[in-house]
This record gives sequence, C-alpha cells and structure tokens, in this order.
Amino acid sequence: MKDIYILGIESSCDETSISIVKNGIECLSNVVSSQIDIHKNYGGVVPEIASREHIKNITVVLDECFQKANLTMSDIDAIAIAYGPGLIGSLLVGLEAAKTLSYLYNKPLIPVHHIAGHIYANSFVKPLSFPLLALIVSGGHTELVLMKDHFSFEKLGSTLDDAVGECYDKVARVIGLPYPGGPLLDKLAMEGTPTYKLPHPLDDESYNFSFSGLKSAVINLNHQFEQKKETLSPKNLAASFQKVVVETLIKKTKKALLDTKCKNLIVAGGVSANQGLRQAVLKLGEELGVEVSIPSLCYCTDNGAMVASAGYYAYQLGRRADLYLNSKSQEELK
Ligand code: KG4
Ligand code: ZN
Repeated sequence: MKDIYILGIESSCDETSISIVKNGIECLSNVVSSQIDIHKNYGGVVPEIASREHIKNITVVLDECFQKANLTMSDIDAIAIAYGPGLIGSLLVGLEAAKTLSYLYNKPLIPVHHIAGHIYANSFVKPLSFPLLALIVSGGHTELVLMKDHFSFEKLGSTLDDAVGECYDKVARVIGLPYPGGPLLDKLAMEGTPTYKLPHPLDDESYNFSFSGLKSAVINLNHQFEQKKETLSPKNLAASFQKVVVETLIKKTKKALLDTKCKNLIVAGGVSANQGLRQAVLKLGEELGVEVSIPSLCYCTDNGAMVASAGYYAYQLGRRADLYLNSKSQEELK
C-alpha cells in the first residue's frame, strides 16, 4: 500500500505548530513555536497578540518542518487543519495557511476538530483500538467520550463549568505561580503532602464534572489564612488540590469503564501531561484489567502531529473541506 504523508497545522491558542506524519502513526517532524514567554507578562494568553505572533511564526515553522522531515510539498498527500475550537484570530492564521497551500499545490484539505487531534495523539503510542473510552482533559475541555470506531464520538459526560486545565491555571495563580500554571502546580504537588481538606466536586453518579467550586474553595482557604495572618504551604496546597482533581477524574472514569465494559482507555489533552493523573490512570488500568494509553509528553499539549494523525484517519474516511472552510471558536466534537 502507498504511504500517506499528511501535513498537520495547529494554531488554536498560543502554539504555532506544523508537523508531517506518515500513515497516521509515524511522526517525521513536529515543529512547535510557543508564545509562553510573551503571554507570561500578562498572566494569560492575550488573543490579539497570539494572532499576530502566529502570523510572524507560521512560515518559519513551515520551512523548518519540511527541512527536518527532508521532504517537500510534492511528497504531501493532504493538509490537515485544526479549524476549531479555539481562539478565532489564532485559528484563522493556521486555516489561511492551510487553504493557501491546498490551493497552490492542489492538495486535499482535511478539517480536524482540535479535540479529535488530542485523541489521535495516542496513535503515536499505538493505533487506536475500539471500543475505547477517552478521558479528555485540556485547558478548554473535560469530557468522557466513548468511541466505537474512528471519528465516532459518544459524549458520556463533560464539565458543567470550568475545564480542568483552566482550574489548574487559576489555582496556580492563587499560589503565585506564573502562566501557564498547570505544569508548575503539578511539579509543586509532587513535592508536597495533601494536608488541606478540599471538597470533592460533583461527587455523584453522573459522568459530569465541575471544577469552579474547587477553585473557589482554594481561593477561600487562601483568604482565611491571609485573615489569620498565617501562611499556607504552597506545596501542600498544590498536593491537596491535585489529589482531589485526580480522585474526581479517576472516580468518573472508573464508573464509565465499568458501565460500558470498555477495555481500552486513552487520555487526551494538555492535562494528560500531569504526573499525578498519569500515575493514577495507569493504576486504574491495572486494577480493572484495562489497556491504558497516554501520549508521550511532547504530544500532550497542542501540536501539529496530533492534527496530522487525526487528519490521516479522516482522509481515509473521505473527509474533505473546500476553500470556504471557516474557523470556529466553539464546535461539537466530530
Ligand atoms: O490541550 P492544551 O495544550 O490546550 C487546550 O486545548 O486547552 O492544554 C493546555 C492546558 C493548560 O491549562 C495547562 O495548564 C494544562 O493543560 N497543563 C497541565 C499540565 N501540563 C499542561 N495541567 C496540569 N498538569 C500538567 N502537567
Ligand atoms: Zn489543546
């Protein structure tokens, strides 16, 4: 069978990333240009600045991607683009680049939902086997999704308010950590002991999540200590917070695995880089006899390779977009 080379473009937030993936599973180059150092000064992503940075970076990233893979545009079979959800101005830069390349070189354009990209990042561990349960944990999403086949997404539950990554970033700010706080909070948590009592949010039988109450509980605890002129231990607070988050995610994931009798679990999205969660998910897999897949750290946060991998399977299914494809700030997983 002929090898298929997909160029994947991702620009939904503050990373400009382009990658070339062979047959959906072999990453030949994955160039990521991060804007963290710029947005750090503002405590979070400034959308207008992010779009302007994408414009500056995208052609440089594209050239480097081809150089690293030692390929040219003539080797590419199709162009996969993460068209949404995300920041509209950021998405548009990647989308216009993808459309221009598609038009100039007469290559098919494959639309990829950003979260489908995160899910397919697991293809670099091993090709997805179905049925599988996907625990999606990112800066904008927290969902449990059942997949019986490629691109078949059955949402079992999702967050009713904040996404788990968003909650990490907000709690990190309370502790005084710079943006993006999630990875730093995780590091701190691994050094601390969970000594503070925090509520387990939405501790019910549903598959839904809620993280805004937990965030408020951390803020309140911080205020109480400030009023008493006492100091909280950042390490122990981080460990207490991480324990509650991980226990909550694991409890609902376990219920979904038992209810669906699913024997494959994958974790997807930026928070899948979380050390506490990675350990807990592997332990859950052992306990239930479920095969667990978590992407390597380089494919957890936003990257073009995940878009290219999802693009490969979408390409095989005959999914195509025309040049009227628009970016979407919000979009159901499909
Ligand atoms: O998937 P992603 O790169 O972007 C979105 O699609 O949202 O996820 C970014 C989120 C941020 O909220 C970031 O703080 C969080 O993932 N994150 C982490 C860790 N690494 C990234 N949260 C907790 N622990 C980590 N190690
Ligand atoms: Zn993402």
